[in-house]
Amino acid sequence: MSQNKATTLTTRSKVNVNTLRKMKQAGEKIAMLTAYDASFARILDAQGVDIILIGDSLGMVIQGHATTIPVTMDETIYHTKAVARATEYSLVLADLPFMSYTSPEMALRNCARLMQEGMAHMVKLEGGAPQVETVRQLAHHGVPVCAHLGLQPQSVHKLGGYRVQGRDQAVADQMRSDAQALQKAGADMLLLECVPAALAADITKEVDVPVIGIGAGSDCDGQVLVLHDMLGVSVKAPRFSRDFMQDTGTIQKAVRAYVDAVKTGGFPAAEHCFV
Ligand code: KIV
Repeated sequence: MSQNKATTLTTRSKVNVNTLRKMKQAGEKIAMLTAYDASFARILDAQGVDIILIGDSLGMVIQGHATTIPVTMDETIYHTKAVARATEYSLVLADLPFMSYTSPEMALRNCARLMQEGMAHMVKLEGGAPQVETVRQLAHHGVPVCAHLGLQPQSVHKLGGYRVQGRDQAVADQMRSDAQALQKAGADMLLLECVPAALAADITKEVDVPVIGIGAGSDCDGQVLVLHDMLGVSVKAPRFSRDFMQDTGTIQKAVRAYVDAVKTGGFPAAEHCFV
């Protein structure tokens, strides 16, 4: 087991779903960050980020909205194209926007656009059991899928705010069974947002596919942060994030410090986790 290894940029090859599975099996942590344009994507790619997410967080950090909800398919495709053009090694993962996957047919149509026009390698959607059939259809048609569980920001108005999910036993049990069902349906990766560290650790052990955490403790197979949060640019970064610019001084060094901290287990620390 090559646990807690830092990246070796000289031996890099293009990251794909098999690479990610092998990294999980080998205990090598996966470093993921968001980006929305070619300039930042080029830096992330060069500094060893395994996955670049064109998150619908673009609605907040790029467009200045209060939530991710206003983001459209056309906007996501525009930003995904820009990222994909500048990416040599990282896997390009694009978010399906709010209400763009309310049926398997609609999800198939929009994933075709994200992959054909945007050149995404994988798509991410929010939801557990209600999305199982959609994930099955996408997998059946050759679309790699990451399913986002825990805090689902597209449901913020339904949830009544951005809150930790899974402290309640019933919600935790549902999340564990959703993770199993999504894996069985063909999901290639799971993402857990704002989940107690112990629950995220259990889910990570219970599934074969890689699990990426954000505010979900240090035992996930990998970590993701919103780029603007970890560069100290956001007006108010969440408590589970860390400002990597503070001790580094350049964007390149900050990104590299993040990658190394994820790979060596230095991030997240206890203060970034929830119980
Ligand atoms: O949109 C986004 O940036 C995300 C991350 C918070 C995981 O989904």
